[in-house]
Amino acid sequence: MKGILLAGGSGTRLYPLTEVTSKQLLPVYDKPMICYPLSTLMLLGIKDVLIISTPRDLPLIEKYLGSGSQYGIKLTYKIQEEPKGIAEAFILGNDFIENSSVCLILGDNVFSFAGSVNEVKPSSNFTGAQIVGYHVPDPERFGVVEKDSYDQVISLEEKPKKPKSQYAAVGLYFYDNSVVKYVKELKPSLRGELEITDLNNRYLSEKKLSCSTMKRGSVWMDAGTPESLATISDYVRTVEQIQGLKIACLEEVALRQGFISQNEFFKLRNNIKEGSSYRSYLDKVLVNGKLT
Ligand code: TTP
Repeated sequence: MKGILLAGGSGTRLYPLTEVTSKQLLPVYDKPMICYPLSTLMLLGIKDVLIISTPRDLPLIEKYLGSGSQYGIKLTYKIQEEPKGIAEAFILGNDFIENSSVCLILGDNVFSFAGSVNEVKPSSNFTGAQIVGYHVPDPERFGVVEKDSYDQVISLEEKPKKPKSQYAAVGLYFYDNSVVKYVKELKPSLRGELEITDLNNRYLSEKKLSCSTMKRGSVWMDAGTPESLATISDYVRTVEQIQGLKIACLEEVALRQGFISQNEFFKLRNNIKEGSSYRSYLDKVLVNGKLT
């Protein structure tokens, strides 16, 4: 499975933070926001990732993450000229996807799994599309998913006045290769965007849309508003302080996933200037050749 990380958009709700920089490079506590969705893809075992962003922001994102080889992954980059919708990722990613299935993650979505990412991972031979639901107190603010006891989606409604469940559809989606065909058949919505909900509803009409749910204790947040950005930063700080383990430390994830060797990990650590707590943290991840 390949991955697409969609990291463009307008960032209107975060003005003036986004006036001169990308939303996805803003700090979520101790690291740039984009580390969180990228680490989620890596934890899912995805090593081939297309990052899409705006003409203004893509060069900076590429400067930060480079080829990905330092983390044992392959990153490629593509410009989205205008924010024409989340589903446009599959038009822009057409050549990249080839014959693969694909996972799309939104660049401002932060995930932290209580156990492992496997709670949302589709089976290796899955067909159709799989979305992910998260229990929220205010479902009317989100896309709301209603499903049956076999995890098949019954309905998916955008910001409904009367939500049919407490589960919001999060910014993590899995599609089989028919996404390439279906996306070409989509028409822009009234706001001029290719809507991800329309794409998912196309799968639903074929009875090929399932939904996994994140477990109690797992955390998802869309960091697109000043309030949610502060809330998720507080959360990361609290967990990291109490547990002494970082969320979304790309060097650590790469090592634990077996994407890089211990020597490569040390090289990454040595490239960080002395004096940062981040470098000191890496020293605690691998002690005497053993993962702690
Ligand atoms: P949104 O938060 O829906 O949009 P936005 O980032 O433009 O922010 P605002 O509403 O405050 O203007 O986007 C969710 C994610 O998807 C975010 O990481 C940006 C990304 N995105 C794109 O890259 N291209 C797009 O065309 C859209 C709509 C979103």
